[in-house]
Amino acid sequence: MHPDGHVSWFLNGKLNVCENCVDRWAEETPDRIALIWEGDDPSHSKRITYRDLHTQVCKFANMLKRLGVRKHDTVGIYMPMIPETVYAMLACARLGAIHSVVFAGFSSHSLRDRLDDAHCKVVITADQGVRGGKVIPLKSVMDEALKECPLVEKCIVFKHQGHDIDWTEGRDEAMRPYCPLEPMDNEDLLFMLYTSGSTGKPKGIAHSSAGYLLYAAMTHKYVFDYHPGDVHACVADVGWITGHSYVVYGPLCNGATTVLFESVPTYPDPARYWHMIEKHGISQFYTAPTAIRALMVHGDEWVSKHDLSSLRVLGTVGEPINPEAWRWYYEVVGRKRCDIVDTYWQTETGGHLLTPLPGAIRCKPGSATRPFFGVEPVVLDSKTGQPLEGDDVSGVLCIKKPWPGMMRTVYGDHERLLNVYLRPYKGFYHTGDGAVRDKDGYYWITGRVDDTINVSGHRLGSAEIEHALVQHPGCAEAAVVGFPHSVKGAGLFCYVTMNNEYEVNEGTVNELRDIVRKEIGPIATPDHILIVPALPKTRSGKIMRRLLRKIASNDTGSLGDVSTLADQQVVSDLINAAQKLF
Ligand code: WTA
Repeated sequence: MHPDGHVSWFLNGKLNVCENCVDRWAEETPDRIALIWEGDDPSHSKRITYRDLHTQVCKFANMLKRLGVRKHDTVGIYMPMIPETVYAMLACARLGAIHSVVFAGFSSHSLRDRLDDAHCKVVITADQGVRGGKVIPLKSVMDEALKECPLVEKCIVFKHQGHDIDWTEGRDEAMRPYCPLEPMDNEDLLFMLYTSGSTGKPKGIAHSSAGYLLYAAMTHKYVFDYHPGDVHACVADVGWITGHSYVVYGPLCNGATTVLFESVPTYPDPARYWHMIEKHGISQFYTAPTAIRALMVHGDEWVSKHDLSSLRVLGTVGEPINPEAWRWYYEVVGRKRCDIVDTYWQTETGGHLLTPLPGAIRCKPGSATRPFFGVEPVVLDSKTGQPLEGDDVSGVLCIKKPWPGMMRTVYGDHERLLNVYLRPYKGFYHTGDGAVRDKDGYYWITGRVDDTINVSGHRLGSAEIEHALVQHPGCAEAAVVGFPHSVKGAGLFCYVTMNNEYEVNEGTVNELRDIVRKEIGPIATPDHILIVPALPKTRSGKIMRRLLRKIASNDTGSLGDVSTLADQQVVSDLINAAQKLF
């Protein structure tokens, strides 16, 4: 691993990512379906051929051009899961503009911070989104964000729901038609995607054009055993890396038919996925363990009444899958005939790092098994930083050599790439995850080793949530930790101290909860908020999160070494207070 994070693939090569994903197939197989859109309402769906995709992307690119978007500009995208979102991303790629998609569940504050950090001049949104029958007022959230984004000059709005919305003349334009391809260098940035870190400020993880595309396409082909004619459904939102690599870039680069799923797994009922698989003849299906767990509790009948014979490969991503959910996926959904691929990777890695290959690697439920081609994982001793040789070891998971899909920089802050990923263990890429390599050389992810919390497969920074909580006028200090949650994997437990003069009332906890939803978005809604007199700190003033985690998990049998605590009484107060919540 280069100490300055210099990585390049296909040095001095030229390409256009949009040409590879669209033009190539529009010429070779114009009538093949590129996108199947499955709307929130199960009676709404649309099929878009590669020919249509080409036309739509060209029109969109032309409009962006007319609005002044040029090579290397950044464009913000805040959209629901609709075909226009894919047109927008590909149109940016066509012009060589760098897109920054912000998940449509983020609040106006999070959106503002991301648009601002990315220096977006043009942003794209829709009037409204709809998920599980609930309306998400995207345009008004965008309006709120734009009040504090002086760099944004133009806002493009799709009328998805066709409702009346506020319109700012001059800034909000409707769209029109056609566009040539911009030749790009191999290492030119294709997009950035913000992810939470240990500090409060999200990082714009930036990906390259050639290496990223190769890696997305290659992992899509081999990990999902893709063959022409397959219908590939990754039900992740394009607001996350999984949507970028396995809804858009990987499948389209391989000329596949890819499904865009606008809804949620339980709407209108818990058979939604299975109904959709039957309806579209889906061959590869890719979801998160949290969705599998949420569906399992509804019973097998929802699955068994559907014809799922088109399925061949079932994937999971986002968090470790517990063996019980793995078996249900294998037995009830896959009917013991489909391969399961538990894919371990990150926003930063662009594509899969550890994963089985269908039919080629024997699975162990709960293990992401072995590295993808070319990936060299190492397990390091967390204290010495030395690689642990041989099998049956446990430590910090790092990667020894670069791979094509590796992030190239943190947008606007290359130092951060070095500090977070390359400097902690010299010569290695640090994943931030702990891992065990078992006696057979299989890898098991044991969870984050930093202060991020994986809630329903979404990585949230405890610092970000704490920062939101202290925005409350009465809040003095906050500490947020994760605790085991049967569906979400981890839940959020917030400990809060209030200013002495502040009068806590019945509404305070709700106010605190609302602040987090407003500052970050509903994905970060706390499960528990506990107002406490004090937080446990060491004599040097450091919050002892290890203790807070134990208390939040109702695991107070052995608290370990508490001798460095400044005030021992604080802990028993916390345990007593927490007991009331369980
Ligand atoms: C976790 C999602 C165990 C891990 C693609 C990682 C997993 C973080 C798995 C990245 C898996 C993802 N098994 N843990 N199969 N997949 N993770 O950036 O902690 O949203 O570091 O990328 O999710 O989350 P991100």
